[in-house]
Amino acid sequence: MKKYIIQGGHPLKGNISVSGSKNATMPILSATLLIDGITRLTNVPDLGDIDIFFELMKRAGAIITPYEKNAFEIDTRNIHTGDVDDSGLEKIRGSQTLLGALLARIGKVTLPSLGGCQIGARPIDIHLNGLKQLGAESSIIKGAVHLEAQKINASHIYLDYPSFGATANLILASCTAQGNTIIENAAQEPEIADLVNFLNKSGAKIYGIGSKTLRITGVERLRPVTHRIMPDRIQASTYMIASAITQGDLTIENISANDFSSVIFKLRETGAEVQIMNMDKIRVSMRQRPMGFKIKTMPFPGFPTDVQSPMLALASLADGMSVIMESVFENRFQVAQELNRMGAKIVYNERMATVIGVENLYGAVVQVQNLRAGASLVLAALAAQGESEILGIEAIERGYDNLDKQLAQCGAEITRMED
Ligand code: EPZ
Repeated sequence: MKKYIIQGGHPLKGNISVSGSKNATMPILSATLLIDGITRLTNVPDLGDIDIFFELMKRAGAIITPYEKNAFEIDTRNIHTGDVDDSGLEKIRGSQTLLGALLARIGKVTLPSLGGCQIGARPIDIHLNGLKQLGAESSIIKGAVHLEAQKINASHIYLDYPSFGATANLILASCTAQGNTIIENAAQEPEIADLVNFLNKSGAKIYGIGSKTLRITGVERLRPVTHRIMPDRIQASTYMIASAITQGDLTIENISANDFSSVIFKLRETGAEVQIMNMDKIRVSMRQRPMGFKIKTMPFPGFPTDVQSPMLALASLADGMSVIMESVFENRFQVAQELNRMGAKIVYNERMATVIGVENLYGAVVQVQNLRAGASLVLAALAAQGESEILGIEAIERGYDNLDKQLAQCGAEITRMED
């Protein structure tokens, strides 16, 4: 068991540089499987989920070689199977985009199971419906997803919900199909835009970047390119909240401020001073207790569900009441019970949490249930009086590159321990 020991009560001060985005990296890694050549990716985050993703790609035939810090050459000349055995590996949700990519490259794909954070039922019906319209037949046998298509047929697809994973899969499956595909009600997340930018650079013809309607003119082949993965907007948001909750003063670098306007505006409402220094640098300081606030999570450009749990920690210490509505995943308030063990006053059901702000949180032994819940507990512990033990930090390390070191260099008293 790995854990963090945190002595709370130190305002964070200094600079933090965020890494490349986990949720952009995995779809782009999938996209390299469409290319017959050697792609170079830079700003790849150093995370457990990415290591697992590399293993899955290697099982399909990819050769992956690091050539600088956070930079990899991905040789996809010998992709020979779509049967991606995941035995011996932890299950990750990011593997979902291997479906669209390997279907397009090999014509069939079998993925034993999809994992990821237990934050809701997370079905893949929207993926499968869309892929069916592109000509794929799907079956699920003992939990393994199997897809097969003689040929990908361009199609006009409407998504019942702007699912991030389904949008990525349909882009990947259709960009080398013959003819024109339209995806309506597509996800607009910046990570989808990064995937489209990568593909267009490689020769794809995808129009409507960042909008709800994507038009894709199939091209015969894609060529290898070099691409820098976009900054992680969820890490950036988490560090902004870390500054606010500890009444600190942090400058966060290597960001793209356009990607998280909803978080910037909400933090200003809580009383934080947020200064966009350049589009790639932001300073967040807080001089008093945050004020209570209201948020409702929504697909981009709405308030991101991945920042909801960190905001719950901030709400716990607010002056006044906060109301947080979760509209994306139905099981994201589990962290409330751990925050309550630290002295928070949160009542919640599946979709809504009401938080009566308290003046102090107190150190406790708490258990991480999922990635963003873990970030929330770290933030609460940084602001709490006394010592906290955060157990099960493996989940945090799936999505935050060197979180403990980043925080420690800004004044946090945090130690990582492995039993
Ligand atoms: C991606 O998950 C991210 N994961 C999530 O980040 C992120 O919270 C989410 O997008 C929204 O931005 C990865 O990229 C690996 P969805 P994904 O499909 O693709 C329902 C993190 O902490 N739905 O947009 O699974 C689904 O159940 C993670 O980094 C269907 O009903 O998100 C959910 O309620 C957590 N049927 C909602 O849509 C489907 O076929 C949104 O899911 C697909 C989704």
